[in-house]
Amino acid sequence: MILVTGGAGFIGSNFVLDWLADAATGHEPVVNLDALTYAGNLRNLATLAGDACHTFVHGDITDRALVDRLLAEHRPRAIVHFAAESHVDRSIHGPGEFIRTNVQGTFTLLEAARAHWAGLPAPEREAFRFLHVSTDEVYGSLGPDAPAFTEDHPYEPNSPYSASKAASDHLVRAWHHTYGLPVLTTNCSNNYGPYHFPEKLIPLMIVNALAGKPLPVYGDGRQIRDWLYVKDHCSGIRAVLARGRVGQTYNIGGWNEQANIDIVHRVCALLDELKPDAAGPYARHITHVADRPGHDRRYAIDARKIERELGWRPAETFDTGIRKTVQWYLDNGDWVSEVQSGAYKAWIGIQYGPSAAPSADASGRRPSCR
Ligand code: NAD
Ligand code: DAU
Repeated sequence: MILVTGGAGFIGSNFVLDWLADAATGHEPVVNLDALTYAGNLRNLATLAGDACHTFVHGDITDRALVDRLLAEHRPRAIVHFAAESHVDRSIHGPGEFIRTNVQGTFTLLEAARAHWAGLPAPEREAFRFLHVSTDEVYGSLGPDAPAFTEDHPYEPNSPYSASKAASDHLVRAWHHTYGLPVLTTNCSNNYGPYHFPEKLIPLMIVNALAGKPLPVYGDGRQIRDWLYVKDHCSGIRAVLARGRVGQTYNIGGWNEQANIDIVHRVCALLDELKPDAAGPYARHITHVADRPGHDRRYAIDARKIERELGWRPAETFDTGIRKTVQWYLDNGDWVSEVQSGAYKAWIGIQYGPSAAPSADASGRRPSCR
């Protein structure tokens, strides 16, 4: 089995759902450790209720005793580490939680993983992996004509969020070089897709437009991000976990640079097509507001290494991915309402109590999940 951290968040929940749906991996159970912060939502995993392949554990990655217990009890062959504070604007208003989870939490996991790994018999020790999910933001901001970020680009983080992720990347690197822990790191560009919390650009624009609220574009809106459909990020992580070279980092991206203002217009045009507003085009709600402090101007990922070494490529173009995304938000108004009201928190302990965890039989074996 594998231990996933942050598997109730946006990317983590897509990863868990896709892992268990994929013929190549779906037989392999997932233990999902998540603190259920404002960004964690068990509704994302509702289709897994009663699935013996999925064990949800409500807990914090900084809790060393809990992580030790999970590793001893479940003996995962890999840890896939998503758990983080992930929103740049929140990191500007309150950086402390970013240091606690992203730095201290990653440190705690690395130390627990190292102790666990050191005690494994040789074949399991050889096979064990710690996969750290990180971001392109650690590389800083690109000039308009600069080449895209390769894995060798210097680290130049500019926000408290990206600095905390850069620190965690460095810890992961050091635990490999110093202790030999078999790590892999992925640095991905901006994701979009189902279950994206509506504080981030694309889901915020969709839900605000539908509610007739302003669409706040920071500064001139000409900042560039490199967008990747979330399920392509998840397939990239699965490829790195399966075939990545130990100690290596892999950039993951969709070759899809776009200015924020163009993204917002694209979302509005899709809404005009799929759910027209009799009062006029949704773009009439676009409002330029004060810029984000220290706002990075441009990110772009050079994804040639993962393509060349692991044969990974995104399945979606931006056109197909953004259409699926807008349609998903139109089809899942209840999810949006619950997230906005905070009501989804009432799901804790209803859908997944501790009793949902498959338990070992008298021989110590766990029931086969498929
Ligand atoms: P998210 O904010 O949607 O989800 C984070 C999850 O981590 C939540 O379920 C939350 O409850 C959990 N969590 C937070 N603190 C925790 C703690 N102390 N202990 C246990 N669980 C905790 O984030 P996301 O957008 O899904 O990002 C997941 C990972 O991918 C992060 O590491 C992020 O840096 C990275 N990443 C995100 C993007 C993106 O575009 N969203 C791009 C590249 C990399
Ligand atoms: O590049 C990967 C990163 O992408 C991840 O590591 C982060 O976890 C993820 O949140 C994302 O960071 P960004 O800051 O790029 O994403 P966000 O959706 O917050 O903003 C995207 C761009 O849109 C950015 O240039 C800021 C701008 N923006 C954002 C919001 C929320 C606006 O103009 N208006 C807004 O209201």
